[in-house]
Amino acid sequence: MEKSYFIETWGCQMNDLDSQRLGGQLRLRGYRRAESAREADLILLNTCSIRDKSESKVYSRLGELRYQRRRGARIGVAGCVAQQEGERILERSPWVDFVMGPANVGFLDEIIDGKKKIAVDFPAERSYDHLTIDRPSAVRAQVTIIEGCNKNCTFCIVPTTRGREISRPSRDLMAEIRHALEQGRVEIELLGQTVNAYRCPETGMDFAALLEAVTDLSGLLRLRFMTSHPAEVTGRLIEVMRDRAQICRFLHLPVQSGSSAVLRRMKRLYTRERYLDTVDRIREAIPEMSFSTDLIVGFPGESESDFELTLSLMERVRFGSIYAFKYSPRPGTPALRLGDPVPDPIASERLNRVFALQEGIERETLRSYVGRVIPVLYEGPSARDASVFAGKSEHNWTVNFISPRPAELGRLVDVHIHEALHHTLRGEAVA
Ligand code: 5AD
Repeated sequence: MEKSYFIETWGCQMNDLDSQRLGGQLRLRGYRRAESAREADLILLNTCSIRDKSESKVYSRLGELRYQRRRGARIGVAGCVAQQEGERILERSPWVDFVMGPANVGFLDEIIDGKKKIAVDFPAERSYDHLTIDRPSAVRAQVTIIEGCNKNCTFCIVPTTRGREISRPSRDLMAEIRHALEQGRVEIELLGQTVNAYRCPETGMDFAALLEAVTDLSGLLRLRFMTSHPAEVTGRLIEVMRDRAQICRFLHLPVQSGSSAVLRRMKRLYTRERYLDTVDRIREAIPEMSFSTDLIVGFPGESESDFELTLSLMERVRFGSIYAFKYSPRPGTPALRLGDPVPDPIASERLNRVFALQEGIERETLRSYVGRVIPVLYEGPSARDASVFAGKSEHNWTVNFISPRPAELGRLVDVHIHEALHHTLRGEAVA
């Protein structure tokens, strides 16, 4: 009889894509996707361990899934918590059938047969079969170009869970991207923890050259990428972004803190001044560039004046959107030894001040689009109202619009923006 699977995915875009890869491999083995964990023969948790007691969340979910095991379902744990906890998951939750880390996503075949209960090594050769990815969108395809991270930010668990950097050969990437375009996808998003550190292991091609090669392909309307490390933004990269119109005028550039003293303790490899200089150089070349960022508040030793430097940096850059978090101690990371913790109520208060400031900036940013006509990549009817079309602007805003004619999936539509809502824009297609 046909078997079914269900995957629960937490965390970043890399994890989303890893789940698409796992789902595709299962489909090839004759599994179909189940509607819920309760109906599935195989339940996979694709976990995240970036912050916030992520291990205990996984163990409590595994506790709930014990009942599913009793009715005969198999249970696997993938992702960064799997990598971090390894063997311990099988000890604490013996009803789990297998544990596999992110570097083993391509090797599900060996695990699913029951030959292996645990796969948490970092194989020198990765297996990555782009033909079996279950892509959820007919318009966009995400492509991992580099796995792991060689930066050693003192707060971060990623070097432990995803290992050292490995760039995929550009030959493979180009084949994958060509295939996605041939299938009618028009937007490509290149992914990596430090995407702009890409270097082809065979030809030495760097990230800027890769962007050029991708934008030379026909059928491509938009190219995005994330996440970029500020210390890896080169003059060449800025030039290529300026010169290639398909590259979205949108850059996710995590700053983490506006204080050089905090950045040094984080080992971010740049200062406040250097970050601002990078932003200025990009804006000079590409005035319409929109930035988003990640921020950590309450990092060990962060004083009130350090924190105010973060607020002033936000006002200076005026990010379109931000992802801000309270510092969360991660097992095995160097920041554990820094001492000088920021008390939780202070960290919470700082986080609220960040959100309050950003809300005003974001509101003004969204309002600045009202009255303008901007291209929107049409992705399908709006989730709330099927008579309304929805898509993304180049700056990554969701735009809902009405149109006298039916819009065609995967086309750029010029939309006259009438209204700015909380996080979205609303308008009407122009003839
Ligand atoms: N505590 C809080 N936030 C963290 N991030 C990474 N590690 C931690 C941590 N230990 C945030 C950073 C990073 C984003 C993906 O998650 O801002 O850019």
